[in-house]
Amino acid sequence: MNSKEIRYKFLLFFEKHGHAIVPSAPLVPENDPSVLFNTAGMQPLVPYLMGTPHPSGKRLANIQKCVRTQDIDEVGDKTHDTFFEMLGNWSLGDYFKEDAIKWSFEFLTSKEEGLGLDPARLYVTVFEGNDDAPRDTEAFEIWKKYMPESHIYFMSAKSNWWSPGDNGPCGPDTEMFYDVTKDGLGDMSKEQYMSADDRQEVVEIWNDVFMEYEKEDGKVVGKLAMKNVDTGSGLERVVMAIQGKDNVFDTDLFAPTMEKIKELTGGEIVNLRAQRIVADHVRTSTMMIADGVHPSNTDQGYILRRLLRRAVRYGDMLGIRPGALVDLVPVIADKYRGVYENVGGQLPLIVEEIRGEEEKFRKTLERGMKELAVLFNQGTITAEDAFKLFSTYGFPIEMTEEIAGEKGVKVDRNGFDIEFKKHQDLSRAGAEQKFKGGLADSSEKTTALHTATHLMLAGLRKYLGNEVHQAGSNITEERLRFDFNYPQKVEREILDNVEAYVNEVIEKRCIVDKAQMKKEEARSRGVEGSFWEKYPEEVTVYTVKDGASVYSQELCGGPHVEKTEGMGKFKIVKEEASSAGIRRIKAVLE
Ligand code: ALA
Repeated sequence: MNSKEIRYKFLLFFEKHGHAIVPSAPLVPENDPSVLFNTAGMQPLVPYLMGTPHPSGKRLANIQKCVRTQDIDEVGDKTHDTFFEMLGNWSLGDYFKEDAIKWSFEFLTSKEEGLGLDPARLYVTVFEGNDDAPRDTEAFEIWKKYMPESHIYFMSAKSNWWSPGDNGPCGPDTEMFYDVTKDGLGDMSKEQYMSADDRQEVVEIWNDVFMEYEKEDGKVVGKLAMKNVDTGSGLERVVMAIQGKDNVFDTDLFAPTMEKIKELTGGEIVNLRAQRIVADHVRTSTMMIADGVHPSNTDQGYILRRLLRRAVRYGDMLGIRPGALVDLVPVIADKYRGVYENVGGQLPLIVEEIRGEEEKFRKTLERGMKELAVLFNQGTITAEDAFKLFSTYGFPIEMTEEIAGEKGVKVDRNGFDIEFKKHQDLSRAGAEQKFKGGLADSSEKTTALHTATHLMLAGLRKYLGNEVHQAGSNITEERLRFDFNYPQKVEREILDNVEAYVNEVIEKRCIVDKAQMKKEEARSRGVEGSFWEKYPEEVTVYTVKDGASVYSQELCGGPHVEKTEGMGKFKIVKEEASSAGIRRIKAVLE
């Protein structure tokens, strides 16, 4: 069974059990500034777990794209990857432990309707209890209907309490592990099971969280109004179990990429860990860019930059020719054809972003490495050195730490963080000077450019036609950069009209209204948006208006200014080709 069939079987199984299928939300959360990326299937559903009724009902199932980078150092082993898809089914105050466990077990083991995994290779853990919640004997008793007691272990909150962070819904969980060894491990004591886990001989393939509690500032503060079930099963690991592999890189999700890397390194497995790191990082970068992230020094863009620069360094270690990393992108995109169409659909843009970032990094990489070699002699890397490596040579601090770590050299990370903050404060102060009386700080500048982007797109559609949509956007404090589909050069005269349109709206002192609505309603109102399929059922729409006159109405996660007054003067500074059929505009607010 391949990954596509598994996705399909999962959705079909839960649909049969009364679950509505909901689409994956984009990787970047739309209305949740607490995380940079969706790290679990439940994240876009938090409001519904907290009690807001979901438009599709009380039983949901989905496959959510996720990025988790906290274990980035583990990538290269058998099971860690920074991008993954999570299969999930939800009960929003509907069924609870009995059905959740039954269906997990049935889907994993049923030969007809499920995956047909060997039940003798399954092991489960349940929560042993603490001051927050009692020992989960209920889950234990249910599991005994399906497996021998010798495969069930009580574990502490450290492994069997799940919450997405310090705040929000949480609860005890029961986790399912699969034996991926050749000969099978058989009955194991808890200690034997734990060391098999350490050796990655058993792999977690499913987690049922019984979400009936709530956390505030890291502490469990009580029960939620309803009992929910949040389940998660990592597709990569399930595929591994099904395909009889002992690592995710040999599954059909990664094998073609690993094969291509082998080709790029002369047909040899030179350094398996490095090859896996390159495969993982380029795949995650591809998915991020497809979802609208651009390399930068902040937030999501910084994570992307870090992954790409790390991929370049490991690619160099492997002897992959400079510029050849992008050869992996079509291979990766091919895997997601018919699954996430925005990957293949944006192939030229993704390739260009990765190539551009590699080139940018290469300009300073060699000099930076030389500088580092000199620093190694002094035995420690000071905060100033680390900051110089970051600001002059574009070395993400984590990369400096990693390279230094390989040589046993320490980096003053605390000092770096202070230095970094000082630098941020300085540039903010500079911005305040420059925008005195108007925009107060750098984030406001960025916010104003976000709103200007909406207005500019409305202007472009007015003068070029309604077929024009966004194909990519990147905003820094200084400028906006915007890609859109259009087959030829846009004449300066048109650009002048668009500029005038935006400035007129700014001068009119319009208000920017933010509203939540159903996706279908937004669509029927003619709200502008690209990649509709990426959005959840409930969307946020920003409208720029003056009384009854509407100047822009667009789907967006924000942020935007509340009024257009004081945004500054809008100016298009450049219009050029971006890739085939895609034009790019750079514009500023002065
Ligand atoms: N939210 C749970 C997890 O991510 C299912 O493991």
